[in-house]
Amino acid sequence: MRLSLLSLSGSLLLSGVAVIAASMPEKIYGVNLGSWLVLESWMLPQEWLDMGGESCADCSTCIATEFTFAKAFPDTVDGIFAKHWDTWFTQDDVDTLKSLGINTLGYWIVEALVNRETEFYPRGGILALIRGLQQLQAAGIVAILDHHALPGVQDADQMFTGNCTTNVQFYTPQNYGRALTWAGVMTALSHLHPAFTPVFAIEAVNEPIMDAADTPGYGTYQKEFVTVVRAVESALGVEVSGFQANSQQTSTNASQAIIDMSNQNNTLFDSQVIDALINTAIIVAQLASESGTQFNLGSSGKGQQPLVHENTDPPNPADAAMGPQAYDNHLYYVFGGVADPTPEAYLQSICNLNRVQADAALGNSPLWFGEWGLPTQFNATDEFLQQWADAQKLAYSEGAGWIFWNFKVENSVLANNLSREWSYIEGVNLGYFTKDPSQVHNASVCDGFTNSTTSS
Ligand SMILES: *[C@@H]1O[C@H](CO)[C@@H](O)[C@H](O)[C@H]1NC(C)=O
Ligand SMILES: *[C@@H]1O[C@H](CO)[C@@H](O)[C@H](O)[C@H]1NC(C)=O
Ligand SMILES: *[C@@H]1O[C@H](CO)[C@@H](O)[C@H](O)[C@H]1NC(C)=O
Ligand SMILES: *[C@@H]1O[C@H](CO)[C@@H](O)[C@H](O)[C@H]1NC(C)=O
Ligand SMILES: *[C@@H]1O[C@H](CO)[C@@H](O)[C@H](O)[C@H]1NC(C)=O
Ligand SMILES: *[C@@H]1O[C@H](CO)[C@@H](O)[C@H](O)[C@H]1NC(C)=O
Ligand SMILES: *[C@@H]1O[C@H](CO)[C@@H](O)[C@H](O)[C@H]1NC(C)=O
Repeated sequence: MRLSLLSLSGSLLLSGVAVIAASMPEKIYGVNLGSWLVLESWMLPQEWLDMGGESCADCSTCIATEFTFAKAFPDTVDGIFAKHWDTWFTQDDVDTLKSLGINTLGYWIVEALVNRETEFYPRGGILALIRGLQQLQAAGIVAILDHHALPGVQDADQMFTGNCTTNVQFYTPQNYGRALTWAGVMTALSHLHPAFTPVFAIEAVNEPIMDAADTPGYGTYQKEFVTVVRAVESALGVEVSGFQANSQQTSTNASQAIIDMSNQNNTLFDSQVIDALINTAIIVAQLASESGTQFNLGSSGKGQQPLVHENTDPPNPADAAMGPQAYDNHLYYVFGGVADPTPEAYLQSICNLNRVQADAALGNSPLWFGEWGLPTQFNATDEFLQQWADAQKLAYSEGAGWIFWNFKVENSVLANNLSREWSYIEGVNLGYFTKDPSQVHNASVCDGFTNSTTSS
């Protein structure tokens, strides 16, 4: 890690002024870069076997995630993953997408946070992230950094957490603390590192458990997350309306400015926030020294970085807002519980979706649909998938927009045409999606399905 960052220092221009973050598009048309920085083996079953992984029905019982892989192959994991990062998401993909991009990444991207005695993850991911963000920037695509794999694991038996386990430990003070440091470091990089210019939002947690009884302290964590992000921004000279702890900036050294901020006797700063700010300052200083450069504050930056929270109820994420904030809803019909498993019921449901309005009533606006797909609980015809794509796009565009899961999945015998319903690029090829994401094939697709009372 140290070596590779050093070798990159020539190409990193880190000395300049605070980066002005990209802004949120008027309407989001996006795709997730899933399985890139947090590999989910179900999406690339053949490549995973070729890498040396295993396949099993219960993903906690074999080498099905990054954690078990890194534990089994400590000597080769970094090289094998470096190859995956290089090949899964490439300049070709950027060229193909050129619509809207989004990013997902795991906490081990900030390697100082990993306890190497008990936690096993590949190293070097941050360089892949920097490379990808530079390519997105060149293509004019903005990005959301969505924290998919939280320290201690935020949900049971999910590949997207990086470790399939029933031992869910995220909702503890120690792991909230590590997640807050992650947020601080990502915020600092977003404003200091030129490669992070396309980042316009940082998402606190991907798909936390949606039951307050199982997530003690989560409401407080959300507020601390926002406070850490805003405190780092303020320390770096980024103006944030609605944030009550202005920086008494005395140092042009970014780490020192963050430490000065943490010393403010401010009632917003509890001990978790103060610790996260200090740890952020230390890691930022390490990253600067490892890359042989220095993060300096130049003329004051101005920017805004809306924050994103998953919808959880309770607590209401709107209660945590200070400055611009946005909200992310994920909607998958294929896992059941949304509509009866028939084409008619799916259209009836999506054509009457009222989540944007219901969330706005709680203050959770703007809302985007950060994950959705075409999979169904029945064998869908090509005709249906075209209607299904149109109807979902229309529904989600009533909010801030949509981000499809995923930009691609593997095309292999083993993957068994998974790409038909899970890959945006393949969906365009097969004609389910219009080439222009702002368009639909049939704007009247909901005729006959919209409840008469809501048809206006
Ligand atoms: C990861 O999963 C393993 C089981 O596969 C479990 O023993 C371990 O506690 C988990 N580690 C973390 C950090 O969640
Ligand atoms: C910047 O400040 C940090 C924290 O005080 C310190 O560790 C680091 O050495 C400083 N960097 C430089 C180049 O002075
Ligand atoms: C911090 O502020 C509180 C109330 O504003 C005050 O009572 C306390 O003395 C202050 N502590 C320090 C160390 O300045
Ligand atoms: C629309 O009608 C269906 C049944 O006809 C009903 O189940 C559903 O709740 C209605 N939705 C709205 C938003 O009114
Ligand atoms: C879908 O089609 C396959 C192959 O014809 C069949 O085996 C399967 O049972 C069908 N699934 C459903 C839910 O109808
Ligand atoms: C995958 O689905 C598409 C669209 O229905 C179909 O044309 C193609 O033949 C399928 N491919 C395989 C390998 O089943
Ligand atoms: C659009 O969808 C509606 C509702 O299913 C249908 O009545 C209409 O014929 C479709 N229009 C076209 C051009 O396919």
